Amino acid sequence: SYLRGVEFVQIPTTLLAQVDSSVGGKTAIDITGGKNLVGAFKQPALVICDSDILKTLKPETLAEGMGECIKYGMIRDERLFELMESRDLDTVDEIMDEMVYACIDIKRIVVEHDEFDRGERMVLNFGHTLGHALEGWHNYKGIAHGEAVAAGMCMITDRLAPQLGDRLRKVCKAYKLPTGSDIPMSELLPFCSKDKKNEAKDINYIICNEIGKGEIVKVPFTEFCRLMEG
Ligand code: GLY
Repeated sequence: SYLRGVEFVQIPTTLLAQVDSSVGGKTAIDITGGKNLVGAFKQPALVICDSDILKTLKPETLAEGMGECIKYGMIRDERLFELMESRDLDTVDEIMDEMVYACIDIKRIVVEHDEFDRGERMVLNFGHTLGHALEGWHNYKGIAHGEAVAAGMCMITDRLAPQLGDRLRKVCKAYKLPTGSDIPMSELLPFCSKDKKNEAKDINYIICNEIGKGEIVKVPFTEFCRLMEG
């Protein structure tokens, strides 16, 4: 927003920022009404990702970033998913460069097709509908974004594609990520709707019936509630 837009370079120092938030041009701030609600699309002039810096991260910060990496495997790349399955939080450094490159390349392709989030880009929100609800329920304290995304991916997959649930939960556990939540669905669902006054409004959510094949599904919010509570 400064000077109505200045050139900027991103030098992300967490895994989550390297694979997700530094790439793709979404800029926003949080307001009382919710997260990332005030912002714009503005592409960085350059993004510099140095995987050596990730060696300095606390294990829980590295784990959080793995939530987004697992998301990329789930939505677009079974080979990447298998690569992550072959390691765990203690050994992920062995695949770091390959994994970070693969994740960013998936994001690049998706954003090149749909920079302004009107269609395909929504697939990057796999795990985020319930993930954002978990963050909101916790008042954005006590659960990290990547942890909430991991729990959200497991919860929706367990419900709508249970044949994949075990495999997803196993890889999340290997990276010390949550695989669900004890919070009742009835308490989480109100946090899934951006428009609390109009529950008939459609909601987009993402489902993976096969690893590497994320799909965007649009249904009235009430139907989403029925599916998740059923
Ligand atoms: N983090 C999701 C997106 O950039 O669209």
